[in-house]
Amino acid sequence: MKAKDRLIFPLDFPDLDQTLYWVERLNPFIGVFKVGLELYSKYGPRTVEDIRRISSAKIFLDLKLHDIPNTISGAVKALSNLGVDFLTIHVLSGRRALEEAVKASHGGLKILGVTILTSLDRADLLELGFNGELATQIDELAFKMALLASVTNCDGIVTSAKEVERIKGALPHLLTIVPGIRMEESPKDDQLRVATPYEAILKGADYLVVGRPIRESSQPEKICEAILNDIDRALEKRL
Ligand code: C5P
Repeated sequence: MKAKDRLIFPLDFPDLDQTLYWVERLNPFIGVFKVGLELYSKYGPRTVEDIRRISSAKIFLDLKLHDIPNTISGAVKALSNLGVDFLTIHVLSGRRALEEAVKASHGGLKILGVTILTSLDRADLLELGFNGELATQIDELAFKMALLASVTNCDGIVTSAKEVERIKGALPHLLTIVPGIRMEESPKDDQLRVATPYEAILKGADYLVVGRPIRESSQPEKICEAILNDIDRALEKRL
């Protein structure tokens, strides 16, 4: 995989015109465009068709499915038919739902598990009924979920740079998708735990999700080039 193939750009825009403008502009630098819940809720499958028309990059549908096995199975079959490349499902859907998702996926669709949302803290988990010990050790809980994603044959996991080293060490075949990436000089925004592209790749990340550092830069192409450069340097060091 080239550096470009590892760079995921989230299309976190409220409308399709703006989305397609960015797809066209960043196409030379991006391997995977990520479509989130907002865009998909508004435009549905048309989002994917329109992106496909102007780019041959991979498409990641970040819909974070969470439902009973039978419903998950039906949804994954339908989404596989769209010809997308990655789809997220909450590991909290449980073993059988994950197994059904993997079984239902076809046409090269890769199933990615989402562990504990990074927006949840200890107080949220206690409120949800997690016991004190597990709520305190969110990393441990996320690791347990990565194990479940692995034994159910999910293709990968979305994880923070903080946990990626342990997950990759224990489960090397599991693809790791890491958001919360910031260049040394870029603002952290609302991301609590950040890493540079170099650090994240060195720790074993397979793919990086980078949104605001690119989108909010006055020179997005320059930032993309710097990220790709960082990825290459880390890959050389990793070998
Ligand atoms: O780089 P930036 O912070 O703008 O990236 C935000 C994107 O990464 C959003 O699309 C968000 O859904 C995604 N993401 C995240 N944290 C996670 C999982 C996904 O920020 N734990």
